[in-house]
Amino acid sequence: MHWAKTQSKARFNLATSGVGHFPLRELPFDFSQLEINGDNKYGYAPLQAAIARRHGVDPDCVVEAAGTSMANHLAMAGILESGDEVLIEHPAYGPLLDAALYLEAAVKRFPRRAENGFQIDPAEIRRVITPRTRLIVITNLHNPTSVLTPDSVLSEVGDIARGAGARVLVDEVYLDAVYQNTPRTSFHLGPEFLVTSSLTKVYGVSGLRCGWILAQPDLARKLRLLNDVYAATPAHPSEILSVAAFAHLDLLRERARRVLDADRALLGEFLARQAAVSAVRTDWGTTAFLGRPGCVACPFLEQLRSDYETSAVPGRFFEIPDYFRIGMGVNHEMFAEGLRRIGQALDSLDHLEQPL
Ligand SMILES: Cc1ncc(COP(=O)(O)O)c(C=O)c1O
Repeated sequence: MHWAKTQSKARFNLATSGVGHFPLRELPFDFSQLEINGDNKYGYAPLQAAIARRHGVDPDCVVEAAGTSMANHLAMAGILESGDEVLIEHPAYGPLLDAALYLEAAVKRFPRRAENGFQIDPAEIRRVITPRTRLIVITNLHNPTSVLTPDSVLSEVGDIARGAGARVLVDEVYLDAVYQNTPRTSFHLGPEFLVTSSLTKVYGVSGLRCGWILAQPDLARKLRLLNDVYAATPAHPSEILSVAAFAHLDLLRERARRVLDADRALLGEFLARQAAVSAVRTDWGTTAFLGRPGCVACPFLEQLRSDYETSAVPGRFFEIPDYFRIGMGVNHEMFAEGLRRIGQALDSLDHLEQPL
């Protein structure tokens, strides 16, 4: 996160994970309705209702949080005691690991293997789970690869968790980037599931910090009380604008989709040309994870930034240093030129017969 905030800037910035910003002026909203303070001690009822409606859950199951970041932290803090075991996918979005380590949980990993298309293999979870396991953590879509985990696999993971008395935390911040047959939230798969998400990545309104947790009502109550320690009360102007965003979600989603679709088509052509680059091709998602197994991407990415003015996220942040992550859905011209420059930089490496 620190790298992303301080080091990722470039003329052709492909080190993104969310779609381009949705401009406030395009949000249908009566600004006379904006207020600074409101009745939101444990959440703003209209926003909780909007989140609940969108997911087909009871508002009692909705906990507002400052982005998926705080949602993940709150969820883990409400479940994990120091020393509790938590199983986290590998490769993983770094702050998920950091939150568990910060809470002094005993972190164990289960692999999503490149040779298996980075899919979740429930057998890998069975291999590492113990009676001390309290939580299994998954992203769906997966960050960094954008791989979608089907409900059948999630249900199997739920069964494994139930057998050990554990819960499954599914971070669904990218799930709505599945534009056709969008899966229902995995919260519906059973009481052992809890889900985190936000409007930040797929809807272009990250600045609202509108995030949430879906949890069973007793756990949801606990998490709301825990949030008294962290954020106390949400920022009300943001809640009001978030309600407006929920009223027009399809408008926000479609705007980004056009850019994403164009970027993904270009990425497909790029990968077809770059035989030495391995990547899972996905139909959906805002990121792709590219690599040349056996090589280290870091010097390549430094050169890419200095000589080609293009940035991508080093795979070391996902614990796989021979990969790098690129983002789509921000600006098609920028993506096209950045990708062209990545191709040039890769070609120059090939020419020199140097490893990535
Ligand atoms: C898997 C995952 N979860 C959570 C976040 C943070 O999201 P938010 O901006 O909603 O806090 C990110 C950001 O990159 C992410 O990739």
